Amino acid sequence: MRKKIVAGNWKMNNDLAQTELLLKDLKKQIIPEDVEVIIAPPFTNLHHSFVSLRDHPIGVAAQNMHQSNEGAFTGEISAAMLKSVGVESVILGHSERRAYFKEDDALLAEKVNTALEHELDVIFCIGEELEDRKKDGHFNVIKTQLENGLFHISENNWKQVVIAYEPVWAIGTGETASPEQVQEMHEYIRRMIAENCGSELAESVSVLYGGSVKPENAGEIFSQKDVDGGLIGGASLDAESFMAIVNAFP
Ligand code: G3H
Repeated sequence: MRKKIVAGNWKMNNDLAQTELLLKDLKKQIIPEDVEVIIAPPFTNLHHSFVSLRDHPIGVAAQNMHQSNEGAFTGEISAAMLKSVGVESVILGHSERRAYFKEDDALLAEKVNTALEHELDVIFCIGEELEDRKKDGHFNVIKTQLENGLFHISENNWKQVVIAYEPVWAIGTGETASPEQVQEMHEYIRRMIAENCGSELAESVSVLYGGSVKPENAGEIFSQKDVDGGLIGGASLDAESFMAIVNAFP
């Protein structure tokens, strides 16, 4: 039985006052026992979120981290720093990091290693751009991102890894991939894991979908056989919308 997960990526939104308000609203909601719910606030609000959610089932993730353990890397945050403020997991490879901060597969492989060494769980994002899909190259893009960024990890480390498939053309655009497109790609991702790491392991890894998930479309997406939840951007900034998504599993 794979874990059902819904993670809210707040991106660069919410100052401390807004974070306090959203946490207050989130804590009023009932979290279903069979869904792991995670929020990923900006660095500045991680510790506050952790303290506020200490006796609550919602977990706290970071949106990024540096690959080195420490040193002269002005403006960066290490895995140990994240752990020290109560963070349990980290999003790596988000398409915005890949596009705007030039994070490539080799760098992401390093970040994955560092996170796993520090016992942080990893939400590893992959996704093709519209051009790739138009050229029918989307499967190859996903294969390369998986092979170069993730498939080097040991069997044991897979317990700490969740994959998030986020087609870049569906992020923040209001254009969601169709449930058929999502299922087709999730099945492909699972097949890639099976071929590289064995079918038993492939069946155990949670694969999330991200890209314009809303309360209105979450149910149909989460009903797909190989979809185990979602990585939610915009809709995670409103407690009611986010919890409607959390409760959208069939
Ligand atoms: O990390 C979340 C994704 O980028 C999806 O964002 O739900 O605003 O499209 P979105």
